[in-house]
Amino acid sequence: MYEYIETSEPRPGVGQVTLNRPKALNALCTPLITELNTALQAFDSSPSISAIVLTGSERAFAAGADIKEMAPLTFSEAYTNSFIESWSLLTTTIKKPIIAAVSGHALGGGCELALMCDILYCTEKANFGQPEIKLGTVPGAGGSQRLTRAIGKARAMELILTGKNFTGLEAGSWGVAARTFPTYEELMEGALSTAETIAGHSKVAVMAAKEVVNKSQDLALRDGVEYERRVFHSLFGSQDQKIGMTAFAEKKKAEWTHK
Ligand code: CAA
Repeated sequence: MYEYIETSEPRPGVGQVTLNRPKALNALCTPLITELNTALQAFDSSPSISAIVLTGSERAFAAGADIKEMAPLTFSEAYTNSFIESWSLLTTTIKKPIIAAVSGHALGGGCELALMCDILYCTEKANFGQPEIKLGTVPGAGGSQRLTRAIGKARAMELILTGKNFTGLEAGSWGVAARTFPTYEELMEGALSTAETIAGHSKVAVMAAKEVVNKSQDLALRDGVEYERRVFHSLFGSQDQKIGMTAFAEKKKAEWTHK
């Protein structure tokens, strides 16, 4: 069905998208992004899926935007065709949480794609970086903004101006990655088991939780707290809030309706 990605449902409630363009180290050409968006939208609207894992191979999560595709682009082509804009569908449209499981190279657009996800896990040896400066350009899929928010201006400025890479261990100690793992196998087990845990919760509450945490990146604190309270209030209208709190009081396991 797909040429550049694979999809599967490896655990109950969990959808997995695996970038699969091995000869180009999963370089993110436009057709790959189109397929990724299609797959993510399909999981987002599937009633059987509650959480998504996005991964690549052991060697490469993704080595960036496709440099060979970009090289001849003119300003007018990039501007009029909104080049790269469709990449952010992941952050604007997908309501279910996405866990990035990063092994190997996550460079340029690959690093940016991982940063767009809701939770980032990686191997200790993962190779992150924003090397665009070495190509005579700058990050174009949110790296200068998301990396800076994640690790602060001092480190982000140094990385983006020098084009130097950073390791998975550094990503973990700087707070970019929520967890790091010694091996690829442990990474995948960790990502899938976290996705399965999330999928075991009320879907409506999970989607609302993703929404409110992500709002913290866009809103000032007072507005963010107000936004959170509105969403919190609205969940008293869900069936799962009644089920969850009644089950607690009755010392029973909640059986979610996901409504
Ligand atoms: N675009 C297109 N092709 C790529 C690619 C990319 N980003 N990264 C790797 N490839 C291709 C190589 O051209 C090579 O293809 P051929 O066999 O046809 O020559 C194949 O993948 C394997 O790559 P290497 O032989 O280079 O493998 P390596 O192990 O020696 O090196 C690497 C791996 C360090 C990741 C190196 O490939 C590399 O530096 N890649 C480019 C990384 C980069 O600069 N990414 C940023 C792109 S710009 C961007 O992403 C803009 C944005 O913000 C959106």
